[in-house]
Amino acid sequence: MFAFFNKNDPADKTDVQLDPQRVPAHVAIIMDGNGRWAKARHLPRIAGHKEGMNTVKKITVAASDLGVKVLTLYAFSTENWKRPSDEVNYLMQLPVNFFDTFVPDLIKNNVRVAVMGYTDKLPAATQKAVHDAIEDTKDCDGMVLNFALNYGSRAEMVTGVQKIARAVAEGQLQPADITEKTVDQALMTAPLAPYNDPDLLIRTSGEERISNFLLWQIAYSELVFTDVKWPDFTAATLQACIADFQSRDRRFGGLTDKK
Ligand code: FPP
Repeated sequence: MFAFFNKNDPADKTDVQLDPQRVPAHVAIIMDGNGRWAKARHLPRIAGHKEGMNTVKKITVAASDLGVKVLTLYAFSTENWKRPSDEVNYLMQLPVNFFDTFVPDLIKNNVRVAVMGYTDKLPAATQKAVHDAIEDTKDCDGMVLNFALNYGSRAEMVTGVQKIARAVAEGQLQPADITEKTVDQALMTAPLAPYNDPDLLIRTSGEERISNFLLWQIAYSELVFTDVKWPDFTAATLQACIADFQSRDRRFGGLTDKK
């Protein structure tokens, strides 16, 4: 049983009180620890991903209920292709299963699906599932559920720089006119405006690194690392992470009037 114990589980703190006025608009999550969750139960790694998918369903509803505007989930990175092909195949099938079973609930919760990443490199069935889910939820105007699928932040920046360079080469843009906004607009988070940047970035499973996720966009994000593995992450864990966020003093490089 000990292997199932999560130290530093923010949800262990009872009586979490959230300020509904200060719920982070954009929450991004690096969903880590599926494999270790499965291993601790003597299950194959893919069992962890399956449970992780169920966690995605629960956390989508929980975040939407809390008033989060954008929930970005790192589902597959440009580096995840290095995994054994059985695992990659399973991960590619997950969005198909997810949307097959969950689109009606997304619509019921007024959640719109978005995706960012090099989706043209995904298997055709995965692309179709994503495309159909985007289409089926396009009229929902509540929370945006934004999946990062075959996403990598450095690749995103290279693509963005190429886009800007092309505009300069074609004479549509002067180098001196390139601003932070130009870069924002060239990145894959542009369609999320005005919520391009996460207010809160959560990484589960005890790893404390960013792993090529939203490197530009997290310049002023609050980072919360929890030992809870993604399949064990609950609505209570999310609330506790948001409580941690609300306890922080966000200064964006300036000063507050706190002495
Ligand atoms: C990291 O855990 C997790 C992933 C690479 C995949 C994340 C995918 C999901 C949680 C399911 C996504 C669901 C949908 C609907 C797309 P890991 O395998 O690296 O865990 P480990 O570090 O313990 O091995």
